[in-house]
Amino acid sequence: MAQAFHLDIADNGLATVVFDQPDRKANVFTREAMEELSALVSQLSERSEIRCAVLASGKERIFIAGADVDAIAGVTDPAEAERGSREGQELFDRWEALPFPTIAAVRGACMGGGTEISLSCDYILLSDREDIRIGLPETKLGIVPGWGGCTKLPRKVGLTAALDMILAGKAVRPYKAFKIGLADALLPEPSFHREVRRFAEGVIAGKTPKPRGSSFKAKMLEKNPLGRRIVFDQARKQVLKTTKGNYPAPLRALEVVRTAVSEGHRAGLAAEARAIGELAVSPVAKNLIHLFHMIEAAKSGGFLEGGEPAKIRSTAVLGAGVMGGGIAQILAGKLDAPVRLKDIGSEALAKGIEHAGGLFRKQVRRRWLSKPEAERKLALIRPTLDYSGFENVDFVIEAIVEKLEVKQAVFAELAAIAPQTAVLASNTSSLSIDSIGKNTAHPERVVGMHFFNPVDRMPLVEVVVGETTSARAINTIIEISRKLGKTPIVVKSGPGFLVNRLLAFTMAEAMWLLNEGHRMEDLDRAASSWGMPMGPYALTDEVGLDTAVHVSHILSEAFPDRLTYPNWMDRMVEDGRLGTKAQKGFYLYEKGRRTRPDPEIYRLLGIERKIDNPDSGRIAERLILPMVNEAARCLEEEVVRSAADLDLAMIMGTGFPPFRGGLCRWADSQGVAKLAEEMEAWAEKLGDRFRPGDALERVIESGGFYSKYSRPDPPRT
Ligand code: NAI
Repeated sequence: MAQAFHLDIADNGLATVVFDQPDRKANVFTREAMEELSALVSQLSERSEIRCAVLASGKERIFIAGADVDAIAGVTDPAEAERGSREGQELFDRWEALPFPTIAAVRGACMGGGTEISLSCDYILLSDREDIRIGLPETKLGIVPGWGGCTKLPRKVGLTAALDMILAGKAVRPYKAFKIGLADALLPEPSFHREVRRFAEGVIAGKTPKPRGSSFKAKMLEKNPLGRRIVFDQARKQVLKTTKGNYPAPLRALEVVRTAVSEGHRAGLAAEARAIGELAVSPVAKNLIHLFHMIEAAKSGGFLEGGEPAKIRSTAVLGAGVMGGGIAQILAGKLDAPVRLKDIGSEALAKGIEHAGGLFRKQVRRRWLSKPEAERKLALIRPTLDYSGFENVDFVIEAIVEKLEVKQAVFAELAAIAPQTAVLASNTSSLSIDSIGKNTAHPERVVGMHFFNPVDRMPLVEVVVGETTSARAINTIIEISRKLGKTPIVVKSGPGFLVNRLLAFTMAEAMWLLNEGHRMEDLDRAASSWGMPMGPYALTDEVGLDTAVHVSHILSEAFPDRLTYPNWMDRMVEDGRLGTKAQKGFYLYEKGRRTRPDPEIYRLLGIERKIDNPDSGRIAERLILPMVNEAARCLEEEVVRSAADLDLAMIMGTGFPPFRGGLCRWADSQGVAKLAEEMEAWAEKLGDRFRPGDALERVIESGGFYSKYSRPDPPRT
């Protein structure tokens, strides 16, 4: 087998170990790589001429991506998982015990096991390249850092900073890594190798730089047992608040770190290995690893045959409103290409630019961007009231009012001015892509690119395909979405596309529950405890009642047999209750913050509150089951390509609880036949909207969503 590690020893005693796994884009600690490293460590310890060793990567953009996730996904025996953790710990401890100083020269993404071996080096030198991240993402995979990370990170950066990273599975940028003491030096990217060599020569010459570490204040707090207790208690509270007890790994990691800090390195390692043994085989870890695989798959591949993505040098956005301003900012920020931003009013344009500027300023405050860089990027956005400059654009995205006639007219105008090769996208959330492109010359270049609000934070883009949309247009949107750091999911144009269509069924059921006399807070609580990031009432306020009502009309017209709403929805809008943006909706607001459900609502809507202490689980069942039923229809109609795509879209677009692995995966884990029985029971009580559809029956016959809809092949080419 080809070697993954390459050793070079210079005359001055400087050894360089380059990790460069053949046939892989990223270095990963597979079993073979670990065995090879183990032999190398034995060899290094016997080479008396070595005076310092540098660990580097042969990959351009990745240092070490971590352990082999597939190996963790496949493990079913806790003892085997614990053994795997022990072996890694021992190997990295042997590296740490080498009889000369070691340096991790990190010039690329450094995750999990990569960070753990770096923590086993005496020094970590980091390139200042913006895209680099270093961290321990294990808790995001439902496990804990298991090769010494839980014990070695607090030692290096202090307790507070270590918990901050480990419990959230956070990866930090170079500047932050340097600031918290994780990196001992931040080196300029262009001269990285030269600077590493100079640092190493300094170490050989005995000029050992003082190790950095946590701040004085943090040290004082963490040094005494009482201070440590405060840190742990606060961290625990924070974890429980964010995970609502649904994710066992962060709490477990907290206990491992506590053991390491109070009982020492050995005890810490033992606790770490035990935690790995228990967590790696848990359903939550399996679901989170499944999600990891889905995200990786969405990041690469997925292109349709028959069309190279267009080369994007110049872009344009139509409409400088809530969405347009955000889209212009992300295009300028991530594509680094000129963006023409057109609106019909100069006030709207000024607002759009201000919105984009605000987002750039936020990035400067967070030190993601330097001020001059942010200013340069903002200047890429050129406001305009006419189509000047549109004759050269390669890509246009429209985000104007949601009115079909207006969009049709605008697309027809656009097509006459933009080059014939330009891809024309619409951010519509409810209109048919084919209808929008009806009067457009060359309608094959018209495609949907459905962002979610807020654009800078929501990770999903639905790539909406019309009857005539070309593979080139689809592939262009897939590629742009990825460059923007978003996850593109290809969906067929149809009412609500995928995510809003499914979500509508939950929303409608929530309205019926209220209508029956439930309290809003009980409904929101039931959804949150099930794992949704927000309950349906808080969410409706966020989305805006006008938008929600508009969508509810469109979708109930499209699916009259199964999607109906209580008749009081319009009354909310008539009463000026537009939600968060009006500071008045289902909830009350104070100083811009949502406080509590407005008790007035019941009187306004003519509803009597009569159900106390309802069963949260039963409520959640009613909110989720209609989506399962509809998911089967979406898959059968090829609105979405596979159960995995559907699951990823729901997690990314609605925050469907990742620990459940996605809507279809959750349904499979419960047994779809059993869920259909529950639906039947609800149908007897509440009516036909709960009746399992034929599509769901076919899912049951095939043994579940994933066995029926696992194929990743596109709907058409
Ligand atoms: P908005 O009302 O905030 O902004 C629309 C902007 O378009 C306004 O500034 C208006 O002056 C401008 N405009 C109207 N006609 C125009 C024309 N002919 N040429 C250029 N500009 C024109 O609307 P918002 O919320 O940004 O929505 C825009 C689009 O994005 C809609 O299609 C909407 O369905 C979709 N969308 C909205 C989401 C949201 O949460 N707000 C989420 C996803 C999609």
